[in-house]
Amino acid sequence: MAAKPDQFSLRPLLEVDEGLIRTWRNSDPVRMHMFSPELIAAKEHQRWFANALAGDSNRYRVLVFGGSPLGFVSFSPVADTGDTWSWGLYIGNPDAPRGSGSALGSLALDHAFSELGARTVVSEAMADNKGALALYSRLGFVRTGMRQVTRRSSSDPEDVVILAISRSEWSSSETPPD
Ligand SMILES: CC(C)(COP(=O)(O)OP(=O)(O)OC[C@H]1O[C@@H](n2cnc3c(N)ncnc32)[C@H](O)[C@@H]1OP(=O)(O)O)[C@@H](O)C(=O)NCCC(=O)NCCS
Repeated sequence: MAAKPDQFSLRPLLEVDEGLIRTWRNSDPVRMHMFSPELIAAKEHQRWFANALAGDSNRYRVLVFGGSPLGFVSFSPVADTGDTWSWGLYIGNPDAPRGSGSALGSLALDHAFSELGARTVVSEAMADNKGALALYSRLGFVRTGMRQVTRRSSSDPEDVVILAISRSEWSSSETPPD
């Protein structure tokens, strides 16, 4: 049975999350969809995590359900726009209930448009990442383009889908309360 959307919440990134985030990011179901699918070494992760904790805390959020952390989203400002943010997100907990990805996406868009002051959120997904593309479509993202990347793990260029959603598109898609 799917969990109810209001059972999920986002919280800031905490020092205790360091090991968990590395475990999630290095897990096969997550890293296979990343532009850099290589395993991340402990030292490299420590450096990245220390920077994340020292930086703008609004850029990172952990999805929580019943006290358990399930997933992670990070935001980066798109240079020279002032109000466009890109995101990366994943559900890392293998026991996450059905609906976790949708909850993460939905709460993360709320966060971007309220706390970060975004006007537009953009994302990219490997064209074969059916789960992510289905999620983005459910959330109301529209496809704005395609590009190709050559990942280190492969010698062939792969298609990447570029997507975007504006604040007004997101607010008009939200279901009004009963
Ligand atoms: C991308 C990602 C977050 C998408 O999550 P998700 O699959 O949409 O997660 P959900 O739990 O919301 O949905 C799982 C399934 O339950 C369905 N579902 C979601 N909410 C539901 C609900 N309330 N009731 C019934 N079914 C529901 C979804 O339609 C989906 O069905 P499917 O398996 O047929 O596609 C997740 O797959 C992930 O972390 N992938 C690895 C990392 C990754 O690819 N990140 C994105 C890089 S661009």
